[in-house]
Amino acid sequence: MNLKPAEFKKIQTKIYDYCGINLHEGKQALVRSRVMKRIRKLGLQNFAHYLDYLERDSSGEEFLALVDVLTTNKTSFFRENQHFKFIRDNVLPQINGRQVKWWSAGCSTGEEAVSCSIIIRENINPKSVKLLGTDISRDVIKTAKRGVYPAKSVDGVSPKLISKYFRKASEDQYQIAENIRKMITYGRLNLKKKWPLNGPFQVIMCRNVMIYFNRETQQELVARFREILEPGGYLFLGHSESIASADRSFENISPAVYRKK
Ligand SMILES: C[S@@+](CC[C@H](N)C(=O)[O-])C[C@H]1O[C@@H](n2cnc3c(N)ncnc32)[C@H](O)[C@@H]1O
Repeated sequence: MNLKPAEFKKIQTKIYDYCGINLHEGKQALVRSRVMKRIRKLGLQNFAHYLDYLERDSSGEEFLALVDVLTTNKTSFFRENQHFKFIRDNVLPQINGRQVKWWSAGCSTGEEAVSCSIIIRENINPKSVKLLGTDISRDVIKTAKRGVYPAKSVDGVSPKLISKYFRKASEDQYQIAENIRKMITYGRLNLKKKWPLNGPFQVIMCRNVMIYFNRETQQELVARFREILEPGGYLFLGHSESIASADRSFENISPAVYRKK
């Protein structure tokens, strides 16, 4: 099935305008194969028919399904583990006993938020910490809320933590323990639009999300994180992401860890 340049451009523009994801020319093959999943599911014949269908769907449902297939949701428990060591050694001692709002922005299927809850529960009184996990994709939020993961996803987690915080849900699946799930609220949120959130937050993790945005969207997002963080609050980015060095309102205190001045 052929994806014509004009059809690619239409999808590219719609997605960028809605959520800031930058589907540059190098993403044509990815867009083609992922949108083809929708085309097959709907029993349509080609991209032109699909775009027509998308235009006519006044419910907006198909557009959300398109966003679901075009987001990249790769994640894992304790991904980029240096951050969790940093949290244990530097962040938790400072927030222990305080009322804390902690946001995993672009949380995908929830492994990042679960890893945070585990490390919090292992090291401080967890009662005062409220974790929020948000993502633009409905599919991943559904999985995060269920809290059931394939057994192989816990491969890198220590046996001690598995026995404390994971329950066998079936032969090849684990469910996250109730006390961890209760600490996290998940919801759908588009980082590019208005945030129905009350700050201030003490910790924001937005890791491996900004790589999909262009520089302008990244800078806008960092400015909005700054607004909603308390002074001294932490912003974690992915290891290949950074804040422009000209931005003097954050101090870079460890790889991909920033502190609001
Ligand atoms: C690669 S995952 C990163 C997951 C996790 N933060 C980690 O580092 O393991 C990127 C996530 O960002 C989400 N995302 C992309 N654009 C978004 C937007 N505009 N608003 C909210 N989430 C977005 C995607 O749906 C995807 O689940």
